[in-house]
Amino acid sequence: MPFQNIIVEKNPPMAAVTINRPDKLNALNTATFLELEKAFEDIREDPAIRGVLVKGAGDKAFVAGADISEIRNLGLRKGIEFSRLGQRVFHLIETLNKPVIALINGFALGGGCEFTMACHLRLATPQSKFGQPEVNLGLIPGYGGTQRLPRLVGRGRALELLLTGDMIDAQRAYEIGLLNRIVEAEQLEETGKKLLNKILAKGPLAVKNVLEVVHRGLNGTLEEGVALESDYFGMTCATDDMKEGTGAFLEKRKPEFKGK
Ligand code: COA
Repeated sequence: MPFQNIIVEKNPPMAAVTINRPDKLNALNTATFLELEKAFEDIREDPAIRGVLVKGAGDKAFVAGADISEIRNLGLRKGIEFSRLGQRVFHLIETLNKPVIALINGFALGGGCEFTMACHLRLATPQSKFGQPEVNLGLIPGYGGTQRLPRLVGRGRALELLLTGDMIDAQRAYEIGLLNRIVEAEQLEETGKKLLNKILAKGPLAVKNVLEVVHRGLNGTLEEGVALESDYFGMTCATDDMKEGTGAFLEKRKPEFKGK
């Protein structure tokens, strides 16, 4: 599939998606979002691909935000459409049912920070910078930032970032729970692959169900979430993988999961 703004590389069981507009610090415009949507829909339907790494081209930015030159011309109706497009794509990524890891080297601002939050795990280099600088432009986040950031780092910390527009470094992002790990640039890709491989060696249905129940549970109350957990727990109890995983433990051998 030929793309202009992204690069998709498939090396089963993994795919790597690179946002490729380095001269604009990988800013997200409509064309890029539409390509991302196509790419992730394709990945979702491809049984050979079980996990995804996402990164930004060049060494300056993961993504420096939504494309400000495009935002400049929006009004009420087109603004809502632009926001909904980004939200639709990030929802697709968040609910892909295959683990998605963001590898961040450089700026992850505005829509870039929102992009990383739609991914399931976030690794970043020490030089990376994070923030929701929309208020500096007289704007607010439009791709889920007002909702995912408080869920990830807590309301007070989220509001500080959202209201001041300040950038924070990777160390601070790690401290507040925005990042899973800080990794030197030379090891970023390798560490991402290792982490993804580790997850892909687990029971495939268990991995899918963890992603699903965490996502769905966070949308409701604790009571609804734990009820959902019981249903998913029961479903995993009825899989061959569970019989294999528990059997392998008891027989002191490595499990061979089949995803069934
Ligand atoms: N949208 C459109 N273009 C962007 C962009 C964005 N979000 N972020 C960077 N660019 C472009 C710049 O306009 C510049 O293009 P040009 O070379 O044609 O002039 C190019 O990318 C390089 O950016 P530049 O600002 O020169 O790099 P810098 O190293 O001096 O500063 C940043 C880096 C990230 C601090 C700065 O680019 C910035 O503040 N970007 C906007 C961040 C933002 O507000 N994001 C939220 C948008 S809603």
